[in-house]
Amino acid sequence: MAKQHKFYAVVVPGLERIAAHELQSLSAHDINIEYGGVAFSGTLELLYRVNLRARTITRVLIRLRTFRSMTLDGLGYDLKKVAWHLFFDENTALDIEVHSHRSRLNHSDDIAAFAKTYIQKLLPKLGTGNQQQPQTLHIRLDNNRGVLSLDTSGERLDRRGYRLNAAKAPLRETIAAAMVQWSGWSPEQTLLVPMCGSGTLAIEAALMGQNIAPNINHDFACLHYPSYKDKPFQKVLAKCAAMQKDAKLNIFASDNHEGALQACLDNAKRAHIEANIHVEKKDVHDLIKPEAEQGGVLMLNPPYGQRIGEQAKVLSLWVDLGNMIRAQFSDDETWKTIIICPDAEHEKALKLNIKKRLKLKHGGLDVMLLEI
Ligand SMILES: C[S@@+](CC[C@H](N)C(=O)[O-])C[C@H]1O[C@@H](n2cnc3c(N)ncnc32)[C@H](O)[C@@H]1O
Repeated sequence: MAKQHKFYAVVVPGLERIAAHELQSLSAHDINIEYGGVAFSGTLELLYRVNLRARTITRVLIRLRTFRSMTLDGLGYDLKKVAWHLFFDENTALDIEVHSHRSRLNHSDDIAAFAKTYIQKLLPKLGTGNQQQPQTLHIRLDNNRGVLSLDTSGERLDRRGYRLNAAKAPLRETIAAAMVQWSGWSPEQTLLVPMCGSGTLAIEAALMGQNIAPNINHDFACLHYPSYKDKPFQKVLAKCAAMQKDAKLNIFASDNHEGALQACLDNAKRAHIEANIHVEKKDVHDLIKPEAEQGGVLMLNPPYGQRIGEQAKVLSLWVDLGNMIRAQFSDDETWKTIIICPDAEHEKALKLNIKKRLKLKHGGLDVMLLEI
């Protein structure tokens, strides 16, 4: 049987359950939800599958060792037990991130410097080569219990690469994908995104509808470990390619801002799904619910008006949105509306019955997803 490893998926706080569900569908074992992350276990093949295919996960760490230590010497004992040569060599540029909470060992900079010197002693050639491939070791201490883990993803997985062109307040790709999953939208249904900005919601839905692995072009950190073997990764990659569909999707993205529409079109092209999204300039006040045999989802990320002077205008837009949803969508059982709402004041402006809520972090703010 292939070797089992322990992993940890870092997620945006609030998305833990959605990510756990996604991990389950990718055949992860021992799934355990924590705040801001999900622990799971499985083979290296699973690690590749999750990095390539998960839509709602920010990065995946591999757990190397757990320990209990109150002194640097004690930490040294545990550092010595890890087979670092499997992960680092002369071409590694090692970065160490330390998070310590309620623990005797609590000076993050000292812990990082100690660990780096220690690993360098164990691997004298570390970082002496010409190539500098970044690798990040995480040392996490809570209540004197520690975990050593290594980031396998490299650049954050929400940076899919298609969004060079962001309009105002873009949504993280992982949050957009989680919104689509939370809504229960299925590819046979219509999806309306009438304030689409740079198109993240529509593009993530299209990638999902075509079953395209969102991170297929990502340069994962784990592909640069000295112990990396290409064959198992290529096998997973080939499976991802074979799973792509050529489905006809009814995704309609619109915005009243020319620049946002251009960004949406450019991003959709870079994601190679432009043929699956209808993009059009339209004010949300002119939105008319289309015929949709299988029903649909209306998805909204409206402006919040955080700047002084903007609030009154933006709140009146939220009142209009509430009226529009009430007039066309909320009584139609074949439709669902999902909206990102920053606070109680905006929710009140909508004057709608909320069926379901999900609190999450977006751009450093606590926001609420509302289902109507
Ligand atoms: C918060 S941004 C959406 C960000 C988007 N989800 C993204 O990831 O890029 C809100 C969008 O609403 C658009 N908008 C504002 N008022 C509108 C209106 N009356 N009709 C249509 N779009 C409008 C803005 O142009 C902006 O692109």
